[in-house]
Amino acid sequence: MDLTKHAFFEGKVVPLSEARISVATHGFLYGTAVFSGMRAYWNEERKGLFLYRPYDHFHRLLDSGRMMAMEIPYDEEGLIQIAIDLLKTDNYRQDVYLRPTIYKADMGIGVRLHDLKDELTIFTAPYEPYVKNDSGAHVTISSWRRVDDNAIPARGKVAGAYVNSALAKTDANRSGFDEALVLTSDGHVSEGSAMNVFMVRNGVLYTPPMTDNILEGITRRSVMEVAQNDFGLEVVERSIDRTEILVADEVFLTGSAAQIVAVTKVDHRPIASGTMGSITAKLRSAYEDIVRARNPKYASWNVEVK
Ligand SMILES: Cc1ncc(COP(=O)(O)O)c(C=O)c1O
Repeated sequence: MDLTKHAFFEGKVVPLSEARISVATHGFLYGTAVFSGMRAYWNEERKGLFLYRPYDHFHRLLDSGRMMAMEIPYDEEGLIQIAIDLLKTDNYRQDVYLRPTIYKADMGIGVRLHDLKDELTIFTAPYEPYVKNDSGAHVTISSWRRVDDNAIPARGKVAGAYVNSALAKTDANRSGFDEALVLTSDGHVSEGSAMNVFMVRNGVLYTPPMTDNILEGITRRSVMEVAQNDFGLEVVERSIDRTEILVADEVFLTGSAAQIVAVTKVDHRPIASGTMGSITAKLRSAYEDIVRARNPKYASWNVEVK
């Protein structure tokens, strides 16, 4: 972590080294925090930095906060302005990852959500690739089940719920896989450790519905819109059986950090030919142009840092 960078902390921009919480902070003790993982992309031709869909990311963050009985004095526009000010402070001229978090900031013991102060913090970091093998990932079906919406809100990004993702990811990596696919408790494919999942069968794009305990992914939504509008693909949201993934023509994962990751093998079985499929490749290249503010059709998704 580059401690010369800055963070938004307790209402102002401070050096990252000074953005510190106590070991007795509620959010640390109980995982009572919600967060967002978002990105800003450097466009070399335009010499500009562009936040990708910040309104949608902050909207989901505030929704996650609502489920966790959190209140902060900012709306989506206010949060975008804080992010812009923060990025300008560090004068980034490269891709950046941003991590906004709202957390229960009081110190002390007592597990609950009410009568606790909420704080917002945001830090940034130069971006590094998230899944190393993003053009041909080897994925396993995890033995861990996806956290159920009736246990911890699955549609939001609740910090404590990421123990579930961490268990799946570590076991997958330690067994030699790049990523994990996690099933719902009734055995349908839900998502990756921090990514949504798509499969292609007979030219149709399928992805699990919101009701299969997925995070309401913003990359997922982008891919669905681009696939329909720009490539005329039919996109179907429906439950996916475990073995459908094994016989799919293409499988890929989507997420702000990971972007679009081609899955070419699942549990040692090649997906179709075992190389990245043509629809995945087309979507990856379209997505790269869109996030980098090179496609005027989607300019409303790019907010310039200026
Ligand atoms: C559990 C989980 N699923 C899916 C995603 C993908 O969501 P998004 O595309 O909004 O980054 C993420 C990443 O934020 C995640 O943590």
